[in-house]
Amino acid sequence: MRPYRRLLAALAALSTAEIVLRIAAPFAMALVVDHALGTTPLAGWVARGFGALGLSTERGDLLVALGLAGFGLQLLHELVVMWHGRLGVRVGQGMIRDVREQLFAHMQAWSLRHHGAMPAGDAVQRLEADTRCVDQIVMRGVFPVVFSFLTLAFMFAVLVTIDVTLAFVSLAVVPPMYIWLRYYTRRMRPHADHARSTDSRLSTRLFEAMTAIRLIKSHAREAHEQERFSDLAGDNARAWIGVGHQGTVFSIGTAALTIAGSTLVLLLGGRAVLTGGISLGTLLLVLAYLGYVYGPLSAIANTTGTMQQALASARRVRAAFDIVAETHGAEGALAADAMRGEVRFDGVSFSYGDGHRVLDEVSFSARPGEMIALVGPSGAGKTTLASLLVRFYDATEGRITIDGVHIEQFQLRSLRQKIALVLQDSIVASGTVADNIRYGRLDATDLQVEDAARAANAHDFIKHLPQGYETELGEGATRLSGGQRQRLSIARAFLKDAPILILDEPTSALDTIAELQVVDAIKRLWAGRTTFVVAHRLSTVRHADRILVMDRGRIVAQGTHEALLETSPLYRQLALQLVDPHLPQPTAHRVEGFLDRRGA
Ligand SMILES: Nc1ncnc2c1ncn2[C@@H]1O[C@H](COP(=O)(O)OP(=O)(O)OP(=O)(O)O)[C@@H](O)[C@H]1O
Ligand SMILES: [Mg+2]
Repeated sequence: MRPYRRLLAALAALSTAEIVLRIAAPFAMALVVDHALGTTPLAGWVARGFGALGLSTERGDLLVALGLAGFGLQLLHELVVMWHGRLGVRVGQGMIRDVREQLFAHMQAWSLRHHGAMPAGDAVQRLEADTRCVDQIVMRGVFPVVFSFLTLAFMFAVLVTIDVTLAFVSLAVVPPMYIWLRYYTRRMRPHADHARSTDSRLSTRLFEAMTAIRLIKSHAREAHEQERFSDLAGDNARAWIGVGHQGTVFSIGTAALTIAGSTLVLLLGGRAVLTGGISLGTLLLVLAYLGYVYGPLSAIANTTGTMQQALASARRVRAAFDIVAETHGAEGALAADAMRGEVRFDGVSFSYGDGHRVLDEVSFSARPGEMIALVGPSGAGKTTLASLLVRFYDATEGRITIDGVHIEQFQLRSLRQKIALVLQDSIVASGTVADNIRYGRLDATDLQVEDAARAANAHDFIKHLPQGYETELGEGATRLSGGQRQRLSIARAFLKDAPILILDEPTSALDTIAELQVVDAIKRLWAGRTTFVVAHRLSTVRHADRILVMDRGRIVAQGTHEALLETSPLYRQLALQLVDPHLPQPTAHRVEGFLDRRGA
């Protein structure tokens, strides 16, 4: 709001000018009726004013002069209204942009827990559609309400000087209008909230369907998805019909009140004209004012529906802002500058929130430059362990230290700068190939990008793309194969040049030839870095200085390949499958668990 102080002040000035012009314009008409068409002589000061301007007060001339004056005032009024409108749009859109920028920054800072809790479609809806509420609330709510009341006050003041009774009569509708507004607002709120939440569910559904389009097509589930979508679209339509219906009921109420008000004024004012209490011009003047007062009043009343929707949106935006962001490190947090890369887990336990311990008292340490392989059945907690090191989540119990410093004492950004992560499914962003590699270090030169690509064995396939490094990848990068995407991620990690490296199943999606290329690149990458590789290929595991065998959140054995073959039955069993990647991962305990549950 603060940056808009000047613009808002300008808007207030324009609105005031608008009110003054509104009050002035009907005077011309009243004067025409009473003095040019009627026979009442002009008030002394008006006649003197005309004289001073060198104008004749003869009735014909008066008609022309007052007509022109009225014309000028109305034209000026319209000009002011136009400026007002233009400025209003500028302020409104500016505020929307600001709120969006702030919300986007805030959403990026949510922790992964919160990202997990809010579906992407819902977040998009809040950021894109709900943020529009600021414009509606300020420009179509607060401003009009304040200025209708100001208009009302001004006109009441003027009316009182003309005819006290009529002034009060015309105000008679205000209290019932207020009560009606209050009552309706309360009724409307749940409808508006509900309608907005169906909006959100609809866009979440849409977002998910578009993201999972391959899944849908591969299972030929279009009809099923259509049905799910139609159900939500139906709910959404019904919710908005409900809101619209409430709106019309409300409008009828307001219309009835304003009509009653004008009729009352017409009746009482008409009687006063008949008994000679006031002139016809005065009555017309009062009626014109009433139009100006009731107009904005019923406009506010009619926008209450919209306002309720905007308030519902505002609550959703607020809720998104209320989600706490990751703490990027308290005052005095350490910058992770020269890191040797000594990593230590000390009795680390972790739960995703449902109480179930995904990691259970995990302890181990890695010397700088050591290469550690994590193996274990699916669901053992390997990816989770890696996520804790980059603080996607914080350990529920225990300590993780790097070079002897608790990782929560580092500035989050600088910690993540020092760890390169190649994920299980490599994510490629829209942009060119070069942009994607450069994501690891934004200021890298073209030459450095190419070097990284060569080191990642990606240069050759990139050269064969239509525009080489400048090939646009587009969202999802569907034009790249799994192995190619993985090598892009590895090139990115090369460029980041971090002392700690985490590779989560870097060769999972690859055939043997592609795997050889990737493994070759990875070996170059991990040289001199503390490396964690989650792997299920013997080719990778065998190079490890040490292998940690995980099962159900615990480290059940550790040592070299040869030693573990001797000592760990689980590793022996895993090693059989590590040799032959075509066998499924062992999930024995899950099958047991499933049978147990079924039996229970
Ligand atoms: N975001 C999450 N929220 C809740 N539970 C989760 C989440 N991610 C993983 N889990 C659970 O935590 C456990 C460990 O998952 P994790 O991804 O660490 O296993 P993993 O060893 O990497 O398995 P895989 O070899 O299949 O990749 C699993 O039981 C899983 O269901
Ligand atoms: Mg995993």
